Amino acid sequence: MSGCPFLGNNFGCAFKKLSIEGSEDDKSQTGVNRASKGGLIYGNYLHLEKVLNAQELQSEIKGNKIHDEHLFIITHQAYELWFKQILWELDSVREIFQNGHVSYYITILDLYIYIHIYIITVIYNVNSCHLSFLFPSSFYSQREYLSPASGFQSLQFRLLENKIGVLQSLRVPYNRRHYRDNFRGEDNELLLKSEQEKTLLQLVEAWLERTPGLEPHGFNFWGKLENNILKGLEEEFTRIQAKEESEEKEEQMAEFRKQKEVLLSLFDEKRHEHLLSKGERRLSYRALQGALMIYFYREEPRFQVPFQLLTSLMDIDALMTKWRYNHVCMVHRMLGSKAGTGGSSGYQYLRSTVSDRYKVFVDLFNLSTYLVPRHWIPKMNPIIHKFLYTAEYCDSSYFSSDESD
Ligand code: HEM
Repeated sequence: MSGCPFLGNNFGCAFKKLSIEGSEDDKSQTGVNRASKGGLIYGNYLHLEKVLNAQELQSEIKGNKIHDEHLFIITHQAYELWFKQILWELDSVREIFQNGHVSYYITILDLYIYIHIYIITVIYNVNSCHLSFLFPSSFYSQREYLSPASGFQSLQFRLLENKIGVLQSLRVPYNRRHYRDNFRGEDNELLLKSEQEKTLLQLVEAWLERTPGLEPHGFNFWGKLENNILKGLEEEFTRIQAKEESEEKEEQMAEFRKQKEVLLSLFDEKRHEHLLSKGERRLSYRALQGALMIYFYREEPRFQVPFQLLTSLMDIDALMTKWRYNHVCMVHRMLGSKAGTGGSSGYQYLRSTVSDRYKVFVDLFNLSTYLVPRHWIPKMNPIIHKFLYTAEYCDSSYFSSDESD
């Protein structure tokens, strides 16, 4: 007879399922114990004996065990592992760019996506960071055991910044010392090497410089854009000028003058070089042109993936800024305006790093400044349009860093 003796037939199935556990029909207990046959086992594969024994409480060693120090160590170690993973992906992306293997186009995009995911994970963690559950008073008692250790000495974080392309000249000075002075021996050399290697910014810059359509003797995007903007501005001026005198006309004219200044500044190469030398722009003049071209023609099949790449680069920058912001909020909560264990002013120092100085792809964010009416964007002639429409993504002239244009 089927059904439950207590609940009747309607509830019989669930109880029947439960009743077969442990019986011959129960598959949950079947399988082969492969580990018993030797070979690599979980703990050895992951070197857990090292990882799980790497938590040494300084407070305990010094005879005054502070319970929360364990959480503090685990959290930092987890972050360092994620930094390692981000560096791993970043190095792959840089290698692909450097080798110019064109068929990796989509791979690059995938890797960017991975980098996002990892950074998001890291951000999420620092945001809802378990450390925020620590009471500032608990952290205060543990601090004396940390000094002078500080996240400022995180080798991987500095490598990450360098490899993405944070400009050394824009780093916020820390106790008037070079950030590398905090690192000795091999670590110092690794940092120096990362400063000398091609950064993600430089690799992207070289790629943008090869954007098809920039050639002055070809489509000549830049020359055409300048002509169209000049013509468009003239028409706009005539349109406003023809209006009857009024407050509205004055406002429109003032707005027009501002817009004109901004747009014309785009074609002032000397000004660009000046902004570049001050660190206010990061991409070469030609790379900026390439970026704007991708931005304007992002709907052309050829430029869809490049546009996604540019978007991903901005996302990486934005996520790093969010990490800094979340961290500084946590530090403010824990320390108030006390100095950091590493010797900086603490909150004040960290706050100054949440700015455009540390944004690497700042030029891409600024592209929207130069948005113009659609009909000002140079129309493609049938040849270039066909080229952009039909050319395969695998185009070595667009990718290989060895090829010049
Ligand atoms: C209670 C939690 C935390 C406090 C109070 C704290 C405090 C600080 C302070 C004051 C600094 C400035 C340098 C100094 O003078 O020491 C700093 C820098 C830093 N911390 Fe933290 N931190 C905390 C958690 C974390 C976590 C979980 C990480 C993850 C790895 C981290 C990574 C870093 C990094 C990378 C820097 C260098 C930032 C830069 O120079 O731009 N911190 N931290």
